[in-house]
Amino acid sequence: MKLKLIQCEAPCSDRRCRGSILAPSNRTGSLPRPTTEVLKQATEFIEQYYVHINRANTDAHATRLAEVTACIETTGTYRLTEAELSYGAKLAWRNAPRCIGRIQWSKLQLFDARNVRNTRGMLEAVCKHLLYATNKGNIRSAITVFPPRTDGQHDYRVWNTTLIKYAGYEQEDGTIIGDPASVEFTKICLKLGWRGPGGRFDILPLILQANGEDPEWFDIPEECAMEVKLSHPEFDWFAEFGLRWYAVPAVSNMMLDVGGLEFTACPFNGWYMSTEIGARNLCDTYRYNLMETTATKMGLDTTSNMTLWKDKALVETNLAVLHSFQKAQVTITDHHSASESFITHMRNEQATRGGCPADWVWIVPPMSGSVCPVFHQEMLYYSLKPSYEYQEPAWKTHLWRNRPVDSGQVTSKKTFKEVAEAVRFVARLMIRALSKRFKATILYATETGRSKNYAERIHRMFSTAFNAKLLCMDEYDVANLEHEALLLVVASTFGNGDPPDNGLSFARYIMEKAKEEQRKMDSIVRRNSEIDCESTSEHLSCEKFCDQPVRIAPRKILRMNSVTSMDEPTYMLSNVRYAVFGLGSSAYPNFCAFGHAVDELLETLGAERLLEIGEGDELGGQEIAFKKWAQETFKVACENFCIGSDVNIDNVTASISMPDAAWSAEKYRVIAADYQANPPDLCRTLSRLHGKAVLPCRFKSRTDLLNSLSRRSTILVKLDTQDQEEFAYEPGDHVAIYPANDKDLVDRILRRIAHEKSPDVVVKVDRHEAKITELGTVRTWVPHDRLPHCSIRYALLHLLDITSTPSPMFLKTLSMHARSPLEQKQLSTLGELLEEHSEQRTTDKGSAVYDEWLYSSFPNLAEILEAFPTLRVPASLLLTLLPLLRPRYYSISSSPQMHPGDVHITVAVVQYKSKASGAIHRGVCSTWLDALSADDIVPAFIRKAPSFHMPKDQSAPMVLVGPGTGIAPFRSFWQQRQYDRYQEAIDQSDADKDGRFGDVTLVFGCRHSKLDNIYKEEKMTAKEEGVLTDVWTAYSREVHLPKTYVQDLLRKNSQKVYETVCGGKGHVYVCGDVTMAAGVRVTIETIIAKHGEMSEEKAKKLIERLKDENRYHEDIFGITLRTAEATEKLRELKQRTEKNDKTAAEELASLRMGYFLRRETVIRHRTVSENPETSVNGSNLNNNGRERKLSDPPPYRSRPLHTY
Ligand SMILES: Cc1cc2nc3c(=O)[nH]c(=O)nc-3n(C[C@H](O)[C@H](O)[C@H](O)COP(=O)(O)OP(=O)(O)OC[C@H]3O[C@@H](n4cnc5c(N)ncnc54)[C@H](O)[C@@H]3O)c2cc1C
Ligand SMILES: NC(=O)c1ccc[n+]([C@@H]2O[C@H](COP(=O)([O-])OP(=O)(O)OC[C@H]3O[C@@H](n4cnc5c(N)ncnc54)[C@H](OP(=O)(O)O)[C@@H]3O)[C@@H](O)[C@H]2O)c1
Ligand SMILES: Cc1cc2nc3c(=O)[nH]c(=O)nc-3n(C[C@H](O)[C@H](O)[C@H](O)COP(=O)(O)O)c2cc1C
Repeated sequence: MKLKLIQCEAPCSDRRCRGSILAPSNRTGSLPRPTTEVLKQATEFIEQYYVHINRANTDAHATRLAEVTACIETTGTYRLTEAELSYGAKLAWRNAPRCIGRIQWSKLQLFDARNVRNTRGMLEAVCKHLLYATNKGNIRSAITVFPPRTDGQHDYRVWNTTLIKYAGYEQEDGTIIGDPASVEFTKICLKLGWRGPGGRFDILPLILQANGEDPEWFDIPEECAMEVKLSHPEFDWFAEFGLRWYAVPAVSNMMLDVGGLEFTACPFNGWYMSTEIGARNLCDTYRYNLMETTATKMGLDTTSNMTLWKDKALVETNLAVLHSFQKAQVTITDHHSASESFITHMRNEQATRGGCPADWVWIVPPMSGSVCPVFHQEMLYYSLKPSYEYQEPAWKTHLWRNRPVDSGQVTSKKTFKEVAEAVRFVARLMIRALSKRFKATILYATETGRSKNYAERIHRMFSTAFNAKLLCMDEYDVANLEHEALLLVVASTFGNGDPPDNGLSFARYIMEKAKEEQRKMDSIVRRNSEIDCESTSEHLSCEKFCDQPVRIAPRKILRMNSVTSMDEPTYMLSNVRYAVFGLGSSAYPNFCAFGHAVDELLETLGAERLLEIGEGDELGGQEIAFKKWAQETFKVACENFCIGSDVNIDNVTASISMPDAAWSAEKYRVIAADYQANPPDLCRTLSRLHGKAVLPCRFKSRTDLLNSLSRRSTILVKLDTQDQEEFAYEPGDHVAIYPANDKDLVDRILRRIAHEKSPDVVVKVDRHEAKITELGTVRTWVPHDRLPHCSIRYALLHLLDITSTPSPMFLKTLSMHARSPLEQKQLSTLGELLEEHSEQRTTDKGSAVYDEWLYSSFPNLAEILEAFPTLRVPASLLLTLLPLLRPRYYSISSSPQMHPGDVHITVAVVQYKSKASGAIHRGVCSTWLDALSADDIVPAFIRKAPSFHMPKDQSAPMVLVGPGTGIAPFRSFWQQRQYDRYQEAIDQSDADKDGRFGDVTLVFGCRHSKLDNIYKEEKMTAKEEGVLTDVWTAYSREVHLPKTYVQDLLRKNSQKVYETVCGGKGHVYVCGDVTMAAGVRVTIETIIAKHGEMSEEKAKKLIERLKDENRYHEDIFGITLRTAEATEKLRELKQRTEKNDKTAAEELASLRMGYFLRRETVIRHRTVSENPETSVNGSNLNNNGRERKLSDPPPYRSRPLHTY
């Protein structure tokens, strides 16, 4: 029998406690909250939120508050952002004094259903919630929030107390079949027209009320209501009781009170604590009341309390519940574990926010209270906002629109008959609709556009099943991160293992958060070990962390059905599932390092990795790797979000295979522009296309830096910035230059374009668009505004990339325009159509053929068009699909003070021979710069490189390492130092300057003393002036001298290098090719280990620290030294490895591991000729008879996470 509650309206006082009252009346009724109160609570909450995201008292906070205030003052209400709502919902859980499972508070998935307007929408949202929460038994906490209360007349309500509940049918004789707790609600359902089968475990329908309208009822689809049949581990007879219980406990009658807004419909769920089912639902005398039946079956004497038959039956029933849920792999926790984790939670809360409201009466479990630690814990019961509040049952407050019904008494039997008929639906169809509601965010970071391209394909793929959004990392508001459900990241790596520019801020944010998380976890661990060394939590046990560096152990995401699972601490991104695809080149030492860093940091922040990171290697197999990763990620994501069999994987696969499938000649037209304007302003056009402020410099002069006997060319280019302030720079910064393409190449392409008009007519591109209107489908031409109105020649000359080998997708599209079937086939093979037609989809022959073709000849567009004579390419295809011509970066070679208004650069003019065809290929930008005339416009902008600036403390010694064009930035350094010393001499002519400027050692490398020792005279002058303390030059192809690299000179002068690097405040700068930079790094590590008498591991860490302290600087151009050789070697090893060649695999592995494990690897270089410069590409050289033992294996894999 349920005890009647003693009604007690007065609040608690010193003499009276209302702690055990079931539903303490808070704000009851449905009157809207007064505006002043809304404003007060909104202001408080917005502040709480901005403190949480570390932006309190910032402009963003002030702006948001002003916006909210204005909105409340004019309309009486406002709208929370999704992130605010998500945070509020979590905080309300954290504040819920009666919940024992609050340690999980930050792990709550919000489903924002505030745009729902009718009951059908509510039903869809609830079903989606249940599917997500059920997760095939691996229960996840979630909340669905419907629109908030407005005037009190338009409330949204879920009339059920919990989303899933069993019916209780009152029989004529007063007995009840089913759950007695549901009798009143079951009557309502019946009166609304629902007909239950009359059993003990019939799931009641959902009764949903939208916008204050009369409610409607809906059956819950079977897929959404998982149940567990109950059995006992030892008593076989227990199963014969035919008991069952549902898996997801979802409270649906409470109100979320956040920021002054009242969300009257907000079903939320966690997972069961076994006593809720075993002790309360099954054994309470006013519920299923099974205690006596069980005791009797157990053979207990039920005639006397003294036999403790009740206790025994209770324990066995609970055991049955735990056993059954675990057997069915459905998440559940027992009351002991829950109590322990609550104590942990209280301690955490005490430490992090000075308290934890808790209602002892509710927290202590309904059985075995005193053997649970919470029993012995003092608790303070107080209310905090945001909160979950009790509400009057909806049927008591609802104002009926169609047929008024007495409040509390539903009498009409027919009221919703029509409605009942209207709401039949097919669950399968509905689930398909639901899936679209799961959000997926796709972030990319790119330098040259590839990652963006892949991310777009992922976006297209995920849009077939998710509500997918695509963003560049630098457009993304990181405050939303913790509220993501599914995050997919596609990111490349630049520099020497660094993020691309547009990934930098994101990288810094997750780095910072990961450090915070580690500190937080550490303090939890410390606290727990201090307070309770016998903690049952294995994860937090003190032993595990004691002498380890501050690093969170990689977490395994386990099914949450273990009884200890509630102890798993929640992390900032506990709710986020993610997968990362990294782009990079295995020719670089830190292969895909940024992708790996993101992958690891997200894991550290608690996000759940759906799939191992995918690696797209530019050197080969990138396309195959991407497709494989994308397909698997999609599959796992669908499983994870319970998006079922209705998604057609084949169609989805096609959506990533054919990014340009949407392209067809009919969809685009190129026509003369209405207004034949002059050519567009180039800098303005580039600014718009690239989202950068591109401004014009003027070409001043070019000077050959190499001896005229050299067959190569390296030039000093001087640009006049025309004193535009945007060109302010410091030594170490870069200038980005937008070149123009070679006119001959453009002409060769123009000859193959199918376009009847002159290539010099100003044209525009239109796209055919179909719009569905009330009058049917209307087709129109709409402007395709990727490019400005300009001539085709102008676009090919200035805006589009015509020299990079086109992508497979581009070739696939191109193949449609070859007239000969043979050419079509050849092109489509390269463009992967082979794969499409092959029986075995997975072979991906096309991709491999493409890679081979690419690396043997690097064909440009003109060469491809000429190789396929029947190919006529529509102008529209080029204008819409060719990638944009990228800017090239150059390290500035001048001091702004020494040469005000100028920017100087040192440019190696790139020229190489295609291996397969023998064709000479010229670098776009370097060749263009080499051919400019005085006053020609050079579109450019400055790219800051703060991590490569000179030390603020001018007395700090520096070692500058830059072979070849790597010397470029150091010219700006010595010029700046010359200027500073000159200034000093003027300003403080009598001052004692000893020690004012630190030593500067320049370590340069070139092939031959007479041919390419660039800036020789300038260096000599600087040395004579004392600006450069030492200049060490390594000659690699000097006749009769051993081949020497900069690394050799560092080793030779190791004592000085050591003293500079480790002498307190020294700086090392390394500039140029990435392999050289990696080699230099390993060399310096060896020097530190030797002179510092430490292990190499420690020396490596020391360099990492120097990087963190901004004392070890790298400025990486890419692979510029021995380009062909470096890439070929790695490609060959990769290919052999793929064919299971063990030796190659070992060599590759040792290359990759070399950097970390310090294994010396011998790379046998091709032998070098007496004549230092005999070939165009500088790598295919003949022999000086010596083999070089290179003890600088390139480093591999991701480097430790720092410096972002
Ligand atoms: C931060 C930074 C700073 C830089 N600073 C400088 C600098 O100070 N001075 C300087 O000269 N350069 C510098 N570079 C390099 C510069 O940006 C350009 O990449 C370089 O000038 C080539 O550009 P390009 O347009 O002439 O050649 P592109 O048309 O871009 O062609 C170059 C490409 O050709 C291919 N290639 C080159 N040689 C071979 C070969 N032997 N076999 C096969 N393929 C080959 C490679 O794919 C290479 O990427 C810097 C790069 C970066 C990222
Ligand atoms: N075609 C042209 O007109 C032209 C003009 C200039 C530059 N380029 C090309 O542009 C690229 C860069 O030229 P650059 O002038 O900056 O450099 P570079 O002259 O090619 O090389 C500078 C020095 O670095 C050495 N080196 C090579 N690999 C090294 C490594 N792993 N570690 C340390 N040192 C290493 C070189 O030795 P070795 O090469 O002897 O081993 C050489 O002594 C090269 O590919 C070059 O061929 C072309
Ligand atoms: C200057 C430069 C530095 C690079 N550094 C790395 C690196 O450290 N690690 C790596 O794996 N790839 C490196 N790469 C290769 C790029 O990541 C690769 O080209 C990638 O496909 C570029 O993708 P994006 O177009 O999305 O930027 C580098 C490329 C350049 C040009």
